[in-house]
Amino acid sequence: MTTPGYHRPRHWDQVHHSAVPGSPSLAARALSTSVYDIVAGEVPADGTVVDIACGTGGLLRGLPAGPRAVGMDFSGEAVGLAAGSPGPGRGGGADWVRADAHQLPLRGASVDAVLCLAGVWVFADPARVLTEAFRVLRPGGVAVVHLWGSPADCRLITLGAVSVGQVVQGSRLTAGVTGPFELTPDRVDVWLRDAGFAPADWRRSDLRLPMARPDDYWPEFAALAPTSYDHYRRAATGDRVQIRALLAGLLTASRRRAGDDSLSLSWLLGVARRAAG
Ligand SMILES: C[S@@+](CC[C@H](N)C(=O)[O-])C[C@H]1O[C@@H](n2cnc3c(N)ncnc32)[C@H](O)[C@@H]1O
Repeated sequence: MTTPGYHRPRHWDQVHHSAVPGSPSLAARALSTSVYDIVAGEVPADGTVVDIACGTGGLLRGLPAGPRAVGMDFSGEAVGLAAGSPGPGRGGGADWVRADAHQLPLRGASVDAVLCLAGVWVFADPARVLTEAFRVLRPGGVAVVHLWGSPADCRLITLGAVSVGQVVQGSRLTAGVTGPFELTPDRVDVWLRDAGFAPADWRRSDLRLPMARPDDYWPEFAALAPTSYDHYRRAATGDRVQIRALLAGLLTASRRRAGDDSLSLSWLLGVARRAAG
């Protein structure tokens, strides 16, 4: 299998460079809220939650005060931005650690929840990461694994990815590389089972966000598809103009087809437990 850039910290350092932690994505907030609901039901107030590919830390910064929160990422840029972000701050604070998810610097059976958003398809060896998650979880603790729904249900991502992909050479995933839409719950279930987890409970959420103006699109896309957005951000001015024109056309076509200006986003959260006892 070809190794894509996103298996290397340097790729993510570049993607996260000049990211604005906490930039206003309504979709990212809705996704985070669905994770907080699970954490609230699963993790005691004195427990510990670890986000193992935390990026610039948006998920944990919004986590309601209570459990100890630890954000880990192998990108030094991401962790630095997460640690340096002035807010919106988390009442209970959070610790930020540079670490590879394939080898978590945590004692066995020491945390109550392992969170993994937009992470499982970027890892070089997802099965090994889930085995690590199992190791560090206390019996009874849960791993929360995020997947996107089908491309047809994620227009908030695909319209931008198509627009960027048509203009920027090399912005599409190399053949044979697992992308954000290739993984299914069935495939992740095999890794989870092999790691030792009980069968996961998959919960689906669907969102529609109004996109009155094309400019409303980019903060959402930046949060949901950071690698593709980075290609757009670094493109030559003429290419950016072309990408924006393509996107405007796709938004118009979508509005005609759907009868309104909203775009879809669908995600799944697999909640897998390390059996107690
Ligand atoms: C698409 S971003 C998602 C960031 C964040 N979870 C979110 O939802 O916004 C993927 C993140 O995974 C991190 N990552 C990729 N491979 C990793 C690994 N082996 N160990 C730790 N972090 C990794 C990248 O640095 C990047 O921040």
